[in-house]
Amino acid sequence: MHASWGTSVSAVTDEIGVGPWPGEWPTDVRYDPELLAEGDRRNVVDRYRYWSLEAIVADLDTRRHPFHVAIENWAHDLNIGSVVRTANAFLAAEVHIVGNRRWNRRGAMVTDRYQHVRHHPSIDELLAWASSQGIPVLGVDNLPGSVPLEGYPLPRACVLLFGQESVGLSDEARAAAVDVLHIAQFGSTRSINAGAAAAIAMHSWIAQHAG
Ligand SMILES: C[S@@+](CC[C@H](N)C(=O)[O-])C[C@H]1O[C@@H](n2cnc3c(N)ncnc32)[C@H](O)[C@@H]1O
Repeated sequence: MHASWGTSVSAVTDEIGVGPWPGEWPTDVRYDPELLAEGDRRNVVDRYRYWSLEAIVADLDTRRHPFHVAIENWAHDLNIGSVVRTANAFLAAEVHIVGNRRWNRRGAMVTDRYQHVRHHPSIDELLAWASSQGIPVLGVDNLPGSVPLEGYPLPRACVLLFGQESVGLSDEARAAAVDVLHIAQFGSTRSINAGAAAAIAMHSWIAQHAG
């Protein structure tokens, strides 16, 4: 990318992204003519500036990590958007929504367009899918019998399954999990926000496996 317009945030306008492509347009098919003409104000890393959505997803698909993220959605948990955004940042293979199909996309900040999101009406269906892929399901919650996430050897291919705010992992999810992992806490609150817990757990996988 050209050094003079490669920077993504303008100090003068606080505008994110880049303006119209200066000079002769590149011929690579990954570039989107509309973005080249109008500028690219999306929240994407500089490597993907001016690339079409399809080209970005295709590139991400060549290097996704083998961990999956699943979250129960029985009451339209507002954390799901944040979980999807973090899953995109850490390049999870897929996000699985268990329960209600509809979820609040606002927190995803459009990252759901770049992320494969699969719906399972029930925990049984998530389990059937995971077993068809030979992938173990690990619950993440601070429940009796849970073991510390810290120091736990996370499998390369796994599903990290989170519960929703207030109620946490359902009994079915708990029973389905090979192990339930808790994140150590030291203060007075019973738990942390599900989106924050998901980010910590995903980053634990990254710390163990990502090159
Ligand atoms: C707000 S918590 C609610 C349930 C929690 N078991 C309780 O006793 O309050 C919602 C979800 O966030 C995640 N979570 C929150 N704190 C956690 C922790 N310390 N360890 C692991 N997961 C946690 C879990 O996935 C949990 O299902």
